[in-house]
Amino acid sequence: MVEVLNPNLVLIGYMGTGKTTIGRLCARSLGFRFVDTDTSVERSAKRSIRDIFAESGEGEFRRMERHAVRKAAAHVHVVIATGGGAVLDAANVEELRRSGVIIWLCVEPEEIHRRCRDRSLRPLLADAEDPMERIRNMLAERAPYYEAAADAAVHTTGLKHEDSAHLVLKTYRSLAAQWPALRREAG
Ligand code: S3P
Repeated sequence: MVEVLNPNLVLIGYMGTGKTTIGRLCARSLGFRFVDTDTSVERSAKRSIRDIFAESGEGEFRRMERHAVRKAAAHVHVVIATGGGAVLDAANVEELRRSGVIIWLCVEPEEIHRRCRDRSLRPLLADAEDPMERIRNMLAERAPYYEAAADAAVHTTGLKHEDSAHLVLKTYRSLAAQWPALRREAG
């Protein structure tokens, strides 16, 4: 009999939606390893994301991100937290969908704005004259990508990270129970 492995849990969504914190909590509950693709990029570049953007540009960051996504997706029994722009790349989406159940963390723009107060850490918000407008525009642009890549969306505005993790785990477990048929049906 062929043993079917549990799929990985992949978290996608905009900056400040709690992918890293919630991902760690979920990994602990599932007994999975936790991988954050932003951290993998920083480790292999030995530079911060802010420095990579400033010194080498976004294109170089995206190239490194693609490599980090491919590596993360190749593991089993991991929770993967992706950077907010990872799913704009079709190759990343393909790797992530093969690797596991994808859950989109949705948070209202006002709360994202509050959570991303230190914009110097986030190059795509750092230079915005009106950060709230930038967040709204980027969310509108990206929502179709998040929606297309995700198996389910979990809304976490106003929730504590522990409660968000609980909701994510519940969603993951019901989708993981349909694995691998979930992918076969989706084509
Ligand atoms: C980005 C999000 C960041 C990081 C980079 C680009 C984006 O990750 O990958 O600054 O394009 O939204 P977080 O979503 O973890 O902040």
